[in-house]
Amino acid sequence: MDTGVLIERLPKVELHVHIEGTLEPEQLFAFARRNGVSVRYPDVEALRAAYRFHDLQSFLDLYYEGCAVLLTEQDFYELTLAYLRRVAAQGVVHTEIFFDPQSHTHRGVAFATVFDGISRALAEGERSLGITSRLILCFLRHLDEADAFDTLRQAEPYLDRIVAVGLDSSEVGHPPSKFERVFAAAREHGLLTVAHAGEEGPPEYIREALDLLKVSRIDHGVRCLEDDALVERLVAERMPLTVCPLSNVRLGGFAEMRDHPLKRLLDRGLCATVNSDDPAYFGGYMTENFTATQAALGLTADDILTLGRNAIEAAFLDADARERLL
Ligand code: ADE
Ligand code: ZN
Repeated sequence: MDTGVLIERLPKVELHVHIEGTLEPEQLFAFARRNGVSVRYPDVEALRAAYRFHDLQSFLDLYYEGCAVLLTEQDFYELTLAYLRRVAAQGVVHTEIFFDPQSHTHRGVAFATVFDGISRALAEGERSLGITSRLILCFLRHLDEADAFDTLRQAEPYLDRIVAVGLDSSEVGHPPSKFERVFAAAREHGLLTVAHAGEEGPPEYIREALDLLKVSRIDHGVRCLEDDALVERLVAERMPLTVCPLSNVRLGGFAEMRDHPLKRLLDRGLCATVNSDDPAYFGGYMTENFTATQAALGLTADDILTLGRNAIEAAFLDADARERLL
């Protein structure tokens, strides 16, 4: 089968998407108008033109600024449902979504407002679009441990609907070790753990995520290739990497898509998966990530099928649900 047709028809599983990163410029302006929030760009075109990033921090600054338009339960509902509709049209059948409560609670938006809006949309998405989902609460690593503990406490009434905790935001200078105790507390609550590591940070952060945070998946992880012993360990442990190719190129990790290591990760036997990260900011959702990597790296039909199977294997699903996707 032609790889373009295969990508289009592949039932897709997404394991790394920040719901706040699905806020399209049109929606950002609509929420701003509705909520009386001012935006420092005159229109959608000017905002989109500002999406030229040179590293993770230059993106995060705009991403957190964009969050300011999200105020009500209805905003979080519409944001999430719009994402689900877009990816349902791309053949996504299951998605595991990050949310950043601290970027909202620090602006005075209640945890319940964020959580209720997102989870109402997830229920609606399953009912009307047939997409299954899981929610992953991310701690912002540029904030301190006490703030993460406070966030975990606020999440307590909702833990039956949160599958895991994660770690995102500015990586360099904020190693996984900073959150060892809060991740231990999350595991005691029965939560799984994941962490962004080896996106901009060194291979050592990937080791810390494994050894100290006891993660079930590494988010990004692309810098593992700088450390052969680490690659061997990740292969031996069959540790999934949730790779986000368009994101890595847009944030300057790799100059061009043809420099991206996705194919090398697969060839080394790693359990790599393809994901969109912050699709409204990086130029594409799941299909665009598959299409761009296939074109630039010459992914074969086998590579594409392997990426699809890896994501099903790495998903936080029970055996029955996994079987249904295979
Ligand atoms: N938050 C949203 N997107 C992120 C990324 N790519 N890395 C770290 N934190 C993030
Ligand atoms: Zn991410």
